[in-house]
Amino acid sequence: LTPHPFNPAADTDYAVVEAREQSQQAFQQVRQLFGKTYLPLVNGEYVSTSEIIDSVNPSNFSEVVGKVGLLSVEQAEQAMQAAKAAFPGWKNTPAKQRASILRKAGDLMELRRAELSAWIVLEVGKPVKEADSEVSEAIDFCRYYAAEMERLDAGYNYDVAGETNRYLYQPRGIAVVISPWNFPLAIATGMTVAALVAGNCTLLKPAETSSVIAAKLTEILVEAGFPKGVYQFVPGKGSKVGAHLVNHPDTHLIAFTGSREVGCRIYAEAAKVQPGQKHLKRVIAEMGGKNGMIVDESADLDQAVVGVVQSAFGYSGQKCSAASRVIVLDSVYDTFIHRLVEATRSLNIGATELPSTQVGPVIDGNAQARIREYIEQGRQEAKVAVEIPASDNGYFVNPTIFTEVPPTATIAQEEIFGPVVAVIRVKDFEEAIAVANGTDYALTGGLYSRTPSHIQMAQEQFEVGNLYINRTITGAIVARQPFGGFKMSGVGSKAGGPDYLLQFLEPRAITENV
Ligand code: NAD
Ligand code: ALA
Repeated sequence: LTPHPFNPAADTDYAVVEAREQSQQAFQQVRQLFGKTYLPLVNGEYVSTSEIIDSVNPSNFSEVVGKVGLLSVEQAEQAMQAAKAAFPGWKNTPAKQRASILRKAGDLMELRRAELSAWIVLEVGKPVKEADSEVSEAIDFCRYYAAEMERLDAGYNYDVAGETNRYLYQPRGIAVVISPWNFPLAIATGMTVAALVAGNCTLLKPAETSSVIAAKLTEILVEAGFPKGVYQFVPGKGSKVGAHLVNHPDTHLIAFTGSREVGCRIYAEAAKVQPGQKHLKRVIAEMGGKNGMIVDESADLDQAVVGVVQSAFGYSGQKCSAASRVIVLDSVYDTFIHRLVEATRSLNIGATELPSTQVGPVIDGNAQARIREYIEQGRQEAKVAVEIPASDNGYFVNPTIFTEVPPTATIAQEEIFGPVVAVIRVKDFEEAIAVANGTDYALTGGLYSRTPSHIQMAQEQFEVGNLYINRTITGAIVARQPFGGFKMSGVGSKAGGPDYLLQFLEPRAITENV
């Protein structure tokens, strides 16, 4: 099948002086707005809340990036009622019109690119180049899902003599989007605009630690033209507001991205039919990974080292796609480790505002403590090949590589979500594949090899949703590498791919005897 052509948005070229200057100005402008309060959007109004939390800069937690009003369960209920009231009008809004609002949102993001990148850098500690790529991904989601909805809106025609047979799609109803902090703009945008363009009234509940960026997304979606009640911003505690909306009898669809623990809970809770509920809920749950990269004896080690370092330490290992296990064949193990350690030592760790920074902090104090516990666990289970001291001004964690890690060790099995890599030695390629597949997860995976039979074997047997050969395993691009996993990495079709919108729609077949 040939997909319709799609041109992804271009990232900023920070080699250009003007781009760097524009970025610096954006940081200054954003800093001037620090400490402002952002409120939930319910039925077209920004509403006051009794609870307000600080969202801080993980690189320097004395800086309050913004204050965020958290919705109560009663206010979340008002939002649900507003969504129900808005649904008939939105359902009957032509798909083309819905798509044009999405395109406008994408254009507004393009205009605010430097500013949005700065918010991402400052609220979640992502290095600026990666934040800029995230803005590109958010723009791509708007434009791609707009085009996809127009494609699907045509439906299918299966007419035969004497009978018309039409296959059409309609919205599901009320969509609850629950997003994580690690792609605070792109993932929140992707799930939200997919639900909206499909004609669902949508409530966005962002992660608590990235709610300021979600508030910026809200400004853009409102300016783009989503009517009141159709899109609502419902920041709140996951365990309260999130759980209330998941269990609500009027929720038709839940699009969740986050941890395995919360995803499994949502999947189970959504399956219970609540009093008054007249449908079964659809759940899309994108969860964690324990992603492995195999390096075989024929690999170009220069390429492999660079690819592993980027995949493992980009955004401090806090991408669901990040490499956290490296499986290396015995014959190249020592040489590879030597080079990997040297490359890791040369990483620029520090202030995420500088385009040269490669590793920043982790998201918060809880994450920092949890990752440090895993590092202590690793000391019991394996050898430390390198541990690079990082600053203690923010929530930094020392990038650490463990070697001679047994495949069953805790650090080789559990998602750490930090700058920690477990390197596993294997005798041959068959064992490498077995070890790579030996976790509960199946999200991303990589292979560095110049052996055609190994490449073919990996294509056939490496159980991951996104397999990358001779390149990094992060940074999927919309409509080029549709993204998502299976096993305990999630349930649902790939984001940025041709099946994604179908999950937000209800198909109907209409036959008329003529
Ligand atoms: P998390 O599960 O802690 O939180 C995700 C969201 O769920 C937040 O908005 C949170 O408030 C909400 N939540 C928490 N408890 C809830 C409950 N009981 N009911 C309803 N909602 C609830 O995840 P996180 O720390 O924000 O994100 C990191 C995780 O996300 C990692 O495991 C990572 O691998 C995963 N992730 C996966 C993908 C993917 O595409 N597969 C992408 C990004 C992140
Ligand atoms: N889509 C993101 C990536 O590929 C998670 O890195």
